[in-house]
Amino acid sequence: EEQWVSEVIGYSSQYGRYKWSAKQIQGAPDVYPRYQDDKRAWAPDVIDENQFLEFEFDYPVYVTKVDVYETFNAGGVKAIKCFDVSGMWITLWSTPQQFYYYYSGSAVGRWGDKLFVAVWDRRVQFATAVYVTKIDVFETFNAGGVKAIKCFDVSGTWITLWSTLQAVQWVAEVINYSSQYGPYKWSAQQILGAPDVYPRYEDSISAWAPKVIDENQFLEFKFATSVYVTQVDVYETFNAGGVKAIKCFDVSGTWITLWSTPEVDVKDYAQIFSPYRQWWESMMPCFSNHIRLDIDCTVANTWVEIDAVRLHGSKEAVQWVAEVINYSSQYYSNDAQQILGGPDVYNLYTSSGQSIKAWAPDVIDENQFLELKFAFPVNVAKVAVYETFNAGGVKAIKCFDVSGTWITLWSTPKSTVPCFSNIIRLDIDCTAAKSRVEIDAVRLHGYQKSWGLAKREHVNEELEEEEDKAVTSVEAAAA
Ligand SMILES: *[C@@H]1O[C@H](CO)[C@@H](O)[C@H](O)[C@H]1NC(C)=O
Repeated sequence: EEQWVSEVIGYSSQYGRYKWSAKQIQGAPDVYPRYQDDKRAWAPDVIDENQFLEFEFDYPVYVTKVDVYETFNAGGVKAIKCFDVSGMWITLWSTPQQFYYYYSGSAVGRWGDKLFVAVWDRRVQFATAVYVTKIDVFETFNAGGVKAIKCFDVSGTWITLWSTLQAVQWVAEVINYSSQYGPYKWSAQQILGAPDVYPRYEDSISAWAPKVIDENQFLEFKFATSVYVTQVDVYETFNAGGVKAIKCFDVSGTWITLWSTPEVDVKDYAQIFSPYRQWWESMMPCFSNHIRLDIDCTVANTWVEIDAVRLHGSKEAVQWVAEVINYSSQYYSNDAQQILGGPDVYNLYTSSGQSIKAWAPDVIDENQFLELKFAFPVNVAKVAVYETFNAGGVKAIKCFDVSGTWITLWSTPKSTVPCFSNIIRLDIDCTAAKSRVEIDAVRLHGYQKSWGLAKREHVNEELEEEEDKAVTSVEAAAA
């Protein structure tokens, strides 16, 4: 959170009592980005090497960055110090340490107007240790500078949760194909690696094209690292639209259809086809590095060309309820089974009158509950409850640990304990609503190995261009 100087508590000298006084540094800039000798900025009366300014902000923070707005003869700051709550001065930065200049607009003259930003390696600390599942970095100026996010594990080691090398993968190996137009040009091998045709729309030797024009074409390929598949991007560069199914070969040894369509299409432009939204709601996550595309060329009636395929995945498994173990009560057709699978009411807010796709209790009291089972146990990282009517009635989320005990993951008030499980219980209180509280779905996020053992694999990674992102939202990866 950014703060501006609220009070000056000391200074070496000032050029005037009002104009050019130390008080001129209080608040937001009123000179910057202009470069000029201006009475609304502090200027010293004494020209020597011992000038200083000491000032306060409204409230203390773990200091991560100090921006100094230098508007005339910039570059004179030689140290930035911080008076720690421990009562000690800490030098955050001093010359000749590394520093950066960010120019605003075009630099004027020799100095230009510049914002001096001293950046140092400063760790941030949170009040409570948790199993880290997500870190949001709110970048408010020249966003995109974060190059890695690391976490100091209780085991005493630094774990890189995220780095600019993102965990997206390009095809590493072709396993099988229906036909190929040539052994080199237009071969199945042309789908390997990053796109080399896209964004051009053209018949290119650098993309795969089939030899046979029918509805049974396919490509089967592998990526370096297995992940819970969250998205597959197909780079279609000629007669786009011919993909009719995307399948994933799960570690369990079965093919899972991630997406399919009864009817293909043909488009005269290049596209990145990624129909992930339709399968993230499916019940069974697919843990794999092995993908198959089924391709139908009959609508195009000519070559459908594919340039590359990109796999997105997570080390975190996401599951929807597979089985209802027990419940307190159920309201007619709003039975407990309505909670199975992905949401079918959310994001509507609607009562049982209009919708029968969510669970509602028959008894309106504080002792309602649902006991739910997911396909396989995980180290629970997150439980998302989709409340679609009189939301807010969940008073506790519990988890039946493999050790045989119930652990309260969340309750009002909150608590957090790790739990390895696939059984979740919701305790629900309908008394505040004085009516039915309806629940549409429950989504479980978790990992199959504990975070302490987490180790990130970096194979076949590609640099992502995400300079303009204002919020870097990071899903931490574990092995
Ligand atoms: C490749 O696909 C063909 C056609 O489906 C099939 O007959 C063959 O067994 C496959 N080969 C391998 C190695 O999977």
